[in-house]
Amino acid sequence: MRKDALDFLRCPKCGRELSIKTIFQTKDKEIISGTLICISCGSTYPIKSGVPDMVQEMDRGVALTERSYNIAHVLEEKKWKCRDYIKRRVKTLLDHLEISPEDLKGKKILDAGCGGGQLACKLSSFNCDVVVGIDICRIITRAFDNCRRKSVHYVRGDIMNIPIREKYFDVIYCLDVFPILPNPEKAFDNLSRLIREGGVLFITFINSNSDILFWKIMYPTWRILSRLPLSIQDVLSYLFAVCFVLVSSFKRRKFSKNFFNEGRVLYYDMFGQGYYYTEDPKEVRKWFIKNGFRKIEIKLGSAGFRAYARGIK
Ligand SMILES: C[S@@+](CC[C@H](N)C(=O)[O-])C[C@H]1O[C@@H](n2cnc3c(N)ncnc32)[C@H](O)[C@@H]1O
Ligand SMILES: [Zn+2]
Repeated sequence: MRKDALDFLRCPKCGRELSIKTIFQTKDKEIISGTLICISCGSTYPIKSGVPDMVQEMDRGVALTERSYNIAHVLEEKKWKCRDYIKRRVKTLLDHLEISPEDLKGKKILDAGCGGGQLACKLSSFNCDVVVGIDICRIITRAFDNCRRKSVHYVRGDIMNIPIREKYFDVIYCLDVFPILPNPEKAFDNLSRLIREGGVLFITFINSNSDILFWKIMYPTWRILSRLPLSIQDVLSYLFAVCFVLVSSFKRRKFSKNFFNEGRVLYYDMFGQGYYYTEDPKEVRKWFIKNGFRKIEIKLGSAGFRAYARGIK
């Protein structure tokens, strides 16, 4: 963590500024381990492996999600090493935002639920002023290890109780996170407060009006799975991965060791969550209006279940 992160970090308990209490280890102007303290309520937050850890207690659902992504993101790192994959994801994001790479110059950007942090890292190469990647996963420390650009910061934090200064960002995007948050509308309100006048908020969600039978079956299945003990979840992830290897090898007419990893990532991505929500696009539009956004655009993906929503403050 660099000291300039104090510009946007706020106490998740009272919203006030933080200062550095102790520094145990530094490297290249980064604090690798130490403690932050709130100037108002005195709460302390550790800095671990270069990343401030602002997560308060997690309920069982959030803890399950966190655990799943700690596993999934590590298994998935190989995919992110593929340049085409990153390029494609950046292009899709910028197309949705209707922003060119040149427009990102000098902007402050928040990647809410940044996962392994690769997208935030890539965006910071477009001369942004600041890119902040926040995620609840403990393994966000790997994002810090993998991306040592000056303008990018990683924070372990909870979107439900967000430790960031209000009206700070020009662009906030939140990809594939809303369906798994405990209270999506509250999360939306939280993110909206962080946008400055003229800034843009972009989220993806799952359309509850989709007629796709698969999702109609999946929704109750998710709810049951999220209540299972973690050890059973793990056993199921291996069984699922074995089935995935068989089907993938047959379909792609070749066997690859990676299919097993892909299977486990897919399992944790699809079944390892504590919460699952789908949203009515009309309701999402109301969230934008309630929070003072204009130029609201909601689009459905080709299969009709994935939805993309954008508004300008
Ligand atoms: C499907 S992944 C998407 C990751 C990334 N946005 C992407 O598109 O590659 C969902 C991410 O949301 C994060 N997440 C879930 N609940 C969260 C919360 N309450 N606060 C912050 N991050 C959260 C998970 O840890 C996970 O990394
Ligand atoms: Zn405080």
